Amino acid sequence: MSVQEVSRETSAFSTAEFRAAMGTFATGVAVVLANHDDRLHGMTVNSLTSVSLDPPLLLVCPRRGSATGLAMKASGAFVVNILDVHQRDIATRFVGDFSNRFDGLDLGRSTRGFPVLAAALSHFDCMVRNVYEGGDHDIIVGEVVSCTQRAGGPLLFYRGRFGAADMD
Ligand SMILES: Cc1cc2nc3c(=O)[nH]c(=O)nc-3n(C[C@H](O)[C@H](O)[C@H](O)COP(=O)(O)O)c2cc1C
Repeated sequence: MSVQEVSRETSAFSTAEFRAAMGTFATGVAVVLANHDDRLHGMTVNSLTSVSLDPPLLLVCPRRGSATGLAMKASGAFVVNILDVHQRDIATRFVGDFSNRFDGLDLGRSTRGFPVLAAALSHFDCMVRNVYEGGDHDIIVGEVVSCTQRAGGPLLFYRGRFGAADMD
């Protein structure tokens, strides 16, 4: 049996309904950084997924044409910063129309010298391993070359709102 493509015209739900239903999947929040042509780019993502342990792979899905996604593909490298519960301002900064998303930001360095968000819960320094088409987004698989993590609480995203975890 062949797999039929579901066209938007025949599907029984709108883009807004799909977005609202996916919004029930609570996630953490990350900022992806990529350096291209001596310019640092960054965007907030929640499409982050762990893919493989050996080799260590993860994926993120930037919208095709996004400045940060283009920098990731062009440079072949990126860093994922998982945000701490106290970094809600950083999550919104890397979505919004900031003239410079990096103004006054506290940056550290990964072991290979790549900029990272200093107060993040964890960092994953990655080389781009594969890029797949995923509708209007790209699926970018990165091989992790180094990672760090510290104690703290994660920033969460659920139904379009930020929050804190209530862990047992
Ligand atoms: C919690 C949250 C998660 C997001 N996740 C993604 C994502 O996974 N992929 C994406 O393309 N945009 C995502 N966005 C929207 C981007 O952060 C936003 O479009 C950003 O401006 C893109 O930056 P760029 O133009 O530098 O690429 C998310 C926004 C929020 C608030």
